[in-house]
Amino acid sequence: MKLELPQTLKKLYKTGFVVDKKNVEREAISSTISEAEAVILMRIVTDIKAEVTLETGLAFGASAVAIAHAKKGFPSSRKMHYAIDPNQNDFYEGAALVAIEQEKLEDQFKLLEGPSHMMMPELIRDQEKLDFAFVDGWHTFDYTLLDFFLIDKILKPGGVIAFHDMQALSKQKVLRYILTHRQYTIEKNYAVRGNESRLYSLKFFLWRLFKNPSLLFSWFHWHYQLFNSSGLIVLKKTKMYEPNFDFYKNF
Ligand SMILES: C[S@@+](CC[C@H](N)C(=O)[O-])C[C@H]1O[C@@H](n2cnc3c(N)ncnc32)[C@H](O)[C@@H]1O
Repeated sequence: MKLELPQTLKKLYKTGFVVDKKNVEREAISSTISEAEAVILMRIVTDIKAEVTLETGLAFGASAVAIAHAKKGFPSSRKMHYAIDPNQNDFYEGAALVAIEQEKLEDQFKLLEGPSHMMMPELIRDQEKLDFAFVDGWHTFDYTLLDFFLIDKILKPGGVIAFHDMQALSKQKVLRYILTHRQYTIEKNYAVRGNESRLYSLKFFLWRLFKNPSLLFSWFHWHYQLFNSSGLIVLKKTKMYEPNFDFYKNF
């Protein structure tokens, strides 16, 4: 089934711009997920009928709109998308909130305005349970690890988590932590193939190596980015699991 992008995303991917709450046009395309990635997020939500979802890193709202809009495709008694971001009402001037309103998704959307390590504990305390989470906040190793650690507390077994910008070595380190310290599998059928040609992907692959030679030793880079410029990875939680208190495996 071909998933139809909502109007706000069609406009974003056509023009590169969104409007903020002051009705000012803002250049957004350089800091959002790609169109191919938006479609994959919609596919995941549709496939697993994800009712309760969360993302870290709302920005101009592309991922939030994709995730929340996809839920229109199935009936459910409760749909909620939590978006965590400390900067929505200052730097982004409410641009994501405008898009959510334009798509009439506001009654199934909640902004948690603050850094994820401060906001996520609220959901854990409330015993919220997530079907799907998307990690795209602050990209360093420590913040990404914390995002994962806290999400894992409330992600249902069988739930899905996706990480953006996996070309970052900081995020690849988190992936290795997850695969050694928790029970998650990589969902290969959600690998994104953008619209770009193989030649473009190869050039991008080599450009990344030039910018960051340590990618030469990156398992992720060779496996996932040689013919695919996207840095999106999707993992499925196979069971609720934490190792013993004295467990450690190099990662
Ligand atoms: C790359 S952008 C996200 C793009 C967005 N997912 C999209 O597709 O449109 C990263 C976002 O993370 C937010 N951010 C920065 N620090 C954060 C933190 N500690 N917790 C959550 N979000 C954070 C930034 O304000 C920014 O909006």
